[in-house]
Amino acid sequence: MLLNMTQEQVSHMFNAIAKRYDRGNRILSFGIDQKWRKLLTQHLPNKNDLRLLDLATGTCDQLLTLMETEKITEAIGIDLAEEMLAIGKKKVAASSYADQIELKCASALEIPAPDASFDCVTISFGIRNVQGNCLKEIFRLLSPGGRALILEFSLPENRIVRFLHLLYLRKILPTIGGWISKEKSAYRYLNQTIETYPYGKAFLSLMEKEGFVNLKALPLTFGVATLYIGDKP
Ligand SMILES: C[S@@+](CC[C@H](N)C(=O)[O-])C[C@H]1O[C@@H](n2cnc3c(N)ncnc32)[C@H](O)[C@@H]1O
Repeated sequence: MLLNMTQEQVSHMFNAIAKRYDRGNRILSFGIDQKWRKLLTQHLPNKNDLRLLDLATGTCDQLLTLMETEKITEAIGIDLAEEMLAIGKKKVAASSYADQIELKCASALEIPAPDASFDCVTISFGIRNVQGNCLKEIFRLLSPGGRALILEFSLPENRIVRFLHLLYLRKILPTIGGWISKEKSAYRYLNQTIETYPYGKAFLSLMEKEGFVNLKALPLTFGVATLYIGDKP
């Protein structure tokens, strides 16, 4: 049973696939993940000198795409998996943003930062993996008027597209993901969590419960992913 994993088991799984994670993403999403990451950056709060926290930052693809906007002065990236962060660290060191980024190994359920520390908190393809409610932590860490941007897989509403997508998730993705990463179970975990994690209105109501306002869900690529936006009043 893959769904009820502990935080330790989740970080162990990501450590095991870390070296092949970026390549797997590009192949399995046909490169579309990069377009989604870029789209997220268009919804940053409308000001400069932002303080940003990227949760479940992994190998830092989302964080570095955010930095390219030049709207962020300081950023912290947090992840549980040391090996994912090790790859992220190399990418950050090779970028022109090394002085602005700090990476920490920590849980998104217990973030080592005081209340209201950030103008924006982002988490891409991470919240589904956090074994607990990190929306509370995100809300705590945002300054008043700050924004949460959450990118996560979802399921298409259209029945035919959904059928084809489920076929891809259940049959093709674990097989090809297994070839690329040598860890087929990680890609079975991926499809099981995508199929069971709340999305669309159900996810927005979780955000509403924590106190977020101005809520929006923007379905991407027929709804195979969704960008959720919410502000702290
Ligand atoms: C699918 S990867 C996403 C990485 C990156 N955000 C991206 O867009 O490519 C999910 C990441 O969530 C991290 N993660 C899972 N549970 C976590 C937790 N409780 N706290 C922090 N990171 C966590 C994993 O270690 C992994 O690096």
